Amino acid sequence: MILLTIVLLTGVTADIQGNWTAVKPAVDLETTPLEIKTNSTLGSGDYVAVYFYNSQGEDAGLYISFTSTPQYYLYRCSSSYTNFPSNLPAAVDKVWRISLNKTSGIRLQIHCNDVEVLNFLLSDDTCRFSDWREYWSRDVEKIAFSTGDTASDYYRLYLQGNWTAVKPAVDLETTPLEIKTNSTLGSEDYVAVYFYNSQGEEAGAVYIYFTSTPQYYLYWCSSSNTNFPSNLPAAVDKVWRISLTRTSGIRLQIHCNDVEVVNTLLSDDTCSTSYWRKFWSRDVEKIAFTADDTASDYYRRFKPASTAPAAPKSGFVHQSRYQLGDQYKYTLRKREDVFNNEDINLEISMSIHYTLRIGQDVSNPPGDL
Ligand SMILES: *[C@@H]1O[C@H](CO)[C@@H](O)[C@H](O)[C@H]1NC(C)=O
Ligand SMILES: *[C@@H]1O[C@H](CO)[C@@H](O)[C@H](O)[C@H]1NC(C)=O
Ligand SMILES: *[C@@H]1O[C@H](CO)[C@@H](O)[C@H](O)[C@H]1NC(C)=O
Ligand SMILES: *[C@@H]1O[C@H](CO)[C@@H](O)[C@H](O)[C@H]1NC(C)=O
Ligand SMILES: *[C@@H]1O[C@H](CO)[C@@H](O)[C@H](O)[C@H]1NC(C)=O
Repeated sequence: MILLTIVLLTGVTADIQGNWTAVKPAVDLETTPLEIKTNSTLGSGDYVAVYFYNSQGEDAGLYISFTSTPQYYLYRCSSSYTNFPSNLPAAVDKVWRISLNKTSGIRLQIHCNDVEVLNFLLSDDTCRFSDWREYWSRDVEKIAFSTGDTASDYYRLYLQGNWTAVKPAVDLETTPLEIKTNSTLGSEDYVAVYFYNSQGEEAGAVYIYFTSTPQYYLYWCSSSNTNFPSNLPAAVDKVWRISLTRTSGIRLQIHCNDVEVVNTLLSDDTCSTSYWRKFWSRDVEKIAFTADDTASDYYRRFKPASTAPAAPKSGFVHQSRYQLGDQYKYTLRKREDVFNNEDINLEISMSIHYTLRIGQDVSNPPGDL
């Protein structure tokens, strides 16, 4: 009997696409205005919704509404939407520049295509909420867009770097999404990430709750928060990998620090709603974290490591064998239908365990390997 063991080690390491990106980008609105690009038309009903956070994550915010008469709303100050004091520039493509000026009082300035369209001094007279100062006097250190924001396409710090998509592009089927958290169980923090198709329609959402017994919730599918089927890895620093596969049915997998913690086939049985399929069968092309997501610190797209063929048997055929003293040498040919001609950088180590009976016929090749 001749047994062959072939171990294939690929030299291809995990191909991680891109660096970690902060879920809530860092800003300093007093020194560097925030620019937001929109192409919504007036009357479309689209709106910008951006929140400003201090280092403790407490918020203020700004809404701009593309009603036929465009309006703005200062979260934690305004009582209602207010018309802009002057007409906006007519161009559909608009760049909004938002800055906070605290040289004398707290002033929110908005430029639209370089024209000042708002210069608003926040005060006990102009704000309806008596505690406006508590929110608006804080240093703004981070921003986040609401998932309901239908107008903001890109943002950047004024004159710095490239425009960044407000809803980053992903393809969850080929490149899972990775999210980094350091929330502790029992903190009540949560991850809330929404998926969108290319038309911006909602295509599912995943919530992960850092309750003392951690739970997850699949939007438009779960009836309630669900305990993870197994314990999560204990490390506080966690990387969550979310992937969606559609090879047979719609399957959502969540790994936590490389351990699979959810593997759910979405179906009429596992989902409690009748309309789960409408959302979850859409192609996921964009993502957005909700502004009140308190757990997600960074995200990136993850491309799984290129793996060696599962069974070496499918990758090589035996070509020839000859005997040299007491050694047998085998020549293996890689199968072109498994490996095409690109460099595959394979390292092959082979060990042969055999028991040879006296008189055994060893002329028969062992066949495909
Ligand atoms: C990742 O970050 C490193 C160091 O900051 C940089 O050199 C590299 O270009 C970045 N890669 C991508 C894909 O952004
Ligand atoms: C508006 O901008 C988005 C993002 O760049 C683009 O996909 C879309 O086609 C634009 N719409 C119009 C009407 O130009
Ligand atoms: C900030 O506001 C003050 C008035 O309070 C004004 O004089 C100054 O020019 C403003 N700064 C900027 C950068 O717009
Ligand atoms: C901006 O984008 C250009 C072209 O895509 C790229 O070459 C450049 O490195 C980017 N700059 C930054 C600061 O990301
Ligand atoms: C968690 O990560 C954030 C973002 O990197 C960092 O600011 C914070 O200090 C970390 N918290 C702990 C307790 O490590």
